[in-house]
Amino acid sequence: MRYDFPAYSFEQDTQDKLSEHTLERVARLVQQHSGIVLGGHKQETIQRHLGAFARRLGLRDVDAYLDYLQAQPDGEEWAQFINVFTINHTAFFREAHHFKTLAEYLPQRQRPLHLWSAAASTGEEAYSMAMVARECLAHADYGVHILASDIDTAALQVAVRGVYKKDRVDGLSLERLQRFFQRGKGRNKGLVRVKHELQEMIEFQMINLNASTGWPGPSSMDVIFCRNTMIYFDRKTQIRLLERFAQVLKPGGLLFVGHSENFSFLTTVLRLKGQTVYERPAE
Ligand SMILES: C[S@@+](CC[C@H](N)C(=O)[O-])C[C@H]1O[C@@H](n2cnc3c(N)ncnc32)[C@H](O)[C@@H]1O
Repeated sequence: MRYDFPAYSFEQDTQDKLSEHTLERVARLVQQHSGIVLGGHKQETIQRHLGAFARRLGLRDVDAYLDYLQAQPDGEEWAQFINVFTINHTAFFREAHHFKTLAEYLPQRQRPLHLWSAAASTGEEAYSMAMVARECLAHADYGVHILASDIDTAALQVAVRGVYKKDRVDGLSLERLQRFFQRGKGRNKGLVRVKHELQEMIEFQMINLNASTGWPGPSSMDVIFCRNTMIYFDRKTQIRLLERFAQVLKPGGLLFVGHSENFSFLTTVLRLKGQTVYERPAE
């Protein structure tokens, strides 16, 4: 019988720790590409992942892997690299007050409505937006389009599938569960799937917020959610993104940010409208 060594072989287990210089190089590349400032990431985790990537490509070590990345600034390997450093924590109806505001706001706007979940992670935020839109615009031609994007391609794959462990929806009302989810049976027991009526409202895309291309056009969005993400960026990047979000919003459009993100002192183009909700003033 043939026996394959597991992905992490002896060689890697005895490999020297990454040097300060290599770690600094990693941090610099992550920040240049994504805006993420490395914080509590474990050195061993970085070493394990990047070591495995280097071996997969037949490269000598992590420094050779970083050379490989730098040699192809638009290469596909960047996605694998960045996925190691993203923090994907999210939940359905996280920060519930935002969804109340959204439910009051959407019926006041002219359709078609365009919403953007700009750091959508595994999709719970975009699906929560879609549920609210269905509920508050009931009995009408919905005319709602939601763009859900993230830099993390693995998280986006989960989002597109729309299948979650049942405990992820524990806090939702029975009404929402029945209306918007299917319960798994047989080998899918313990899972739920988002119904097609929500999925068809959402377009999933890989968009790097720190890149100059790929963003939606000016004055195209009624609502942007970019929550619990800019907190990982430095101040210069935050200011630049706030200005770009303001351009992408229609006049009177809203930007929702995370509970610990206070940007009032960083921008004059957006006005604080409610708890962690900013408005592009109408002209
Ligand atoms: C903590 S999650 C927040 C998810 C959701 N917005 C929420 O509040 O529940 C942060 C997300 O930001 C994404 N992210 C980090 N840097 C990004 C970038 N430059 N462009 C797009 N998404 C990014 C990560 O991949 C991750 O999925």
